[in-house]
Amino acid sequence: MQHRSLMVGLILLALILGACVSGMKQSSNSAAKKKKGPNDPVVIGFSMDTLKEERWQRDKDLIEKRAKEMGVQAFVQVANGDDNLQIKQAENLLTQGVDVLIVAPHNGEIAASIVEAAHRQGVPVISYDRLIRNSDVDLYVSHQVVKIGEMQAQYLLDHVNKKPANFVVVGGSPTDNNALLLHQGQMNVLKPAVDRGDIKIVTDQYAKEWQASAALNIVENALTQSNNQVDAVVASNDGTARGAVQALEGQNLAGKVLVSGQDADLASLILIVQGKQTMTIYKPIQPLAYIAVDSAIKLARGEKVDAKDTIDNGAKKVPAVLLEPIAVDKNNIISTVVKDGYQTLEKICANIPADKCPKQ
Ligand code: BGC
Repeated sequence: MQHRSLMVGLILLALILGACVSGMKQSSNSAAKKKKGPNDPVVIGFSMDTLKEERWQRDKDLIEKRAKEMGVQAFVQVANGDDNLQIKQAENLLTQGVDVLIVAPHNGEIAASIVEAAHRQGVPVISYDRLIRNSDVDLYVSHQVVKIGEMQAQYLLDHVNKKPANFVVVGGSPTDNNALLLHQGQMNVLKPAVDRGDIKIVTDQYAKEWQASAALNIVENALTQSNNQVDAVVASNDGTARGAVQALEGQNLAGKVLVSGQDADLASLILIVQGKQTMTIYKPIQPLAYIAVDSAIKLARGEKVDAKDTIDNGAKKVPAVLLEPIAVDKNNIISTVVKDGYQTLEKICANIPADKCPKQ
């Protein structure tokens, strides 16, 4: 008798536990609640950190363009590097009834609260270009960022002609997961070179908020510290590369020290043609923006999204679409950024003597 009531008790407990687990599953999957039919209008919210770098204006324009082409609405908010403002703007987008959020976070940790707020309302979230960490984010759309770091470091390593060569590493904002991934990639290449005795790292620092002025300071200090014995600067993006070039110009070293970058900014392509910056990484923004919008529409409709990659954000393996980056130097500007219409040769060469300009 006792045995039977114990059994009944255990069965009841199992049922209760089962119900709890399926309840948990449902709540963590709350993004699946409010789905749109194939003909329902879809509204996308795009929460951006910044428009400071040239590329972000492209991201904004192309997200808006694709939304229009696909017959959906897109509301865009820009937080100007302010985490609280980004959270408030995302909440406003949710209040306005967006069906899906695309977020380019200022701070990859803090933005987790945006994902939580969205999921409470059944709204899926795409992490755009920069990963939102420790959250149940639905999809990550970006480029292969570790590979970008490797390409920057490898290019400089292949082109420096001194042994041992003195390297300076200028990272991006430490609150941006991309800066951490880039650094990881850079070190994948530099660490073995240090171990082989091929290079020495004079300084390895992050530039606060990706600021050119922070990069300028880091490189100036490295020059002072090493008696101007710097051979290469692994700058993580074009803004910080231009800060580095400015520091080098102060010591008449621009053009003598290798400098990497990222983004194919017009100002940096000009420096590349002038020989003051050595290379940049070109990340085509159009496919990125279009994939983000197309995936957003699918998520809003509860359809499956094509994501071949995954990335660990600390909480889960996030399904990811990671596009290929392209290394650009003065030899392939025409066959890459100019060919794609990303920048025009007229603009790059506007103030450069014709004989110094790459030929089409
Ligand atoms: C982006 C870069 C950009 C940098 C500064 C990074 O997360 O991937 O393209 O230059 O942020 O905005």
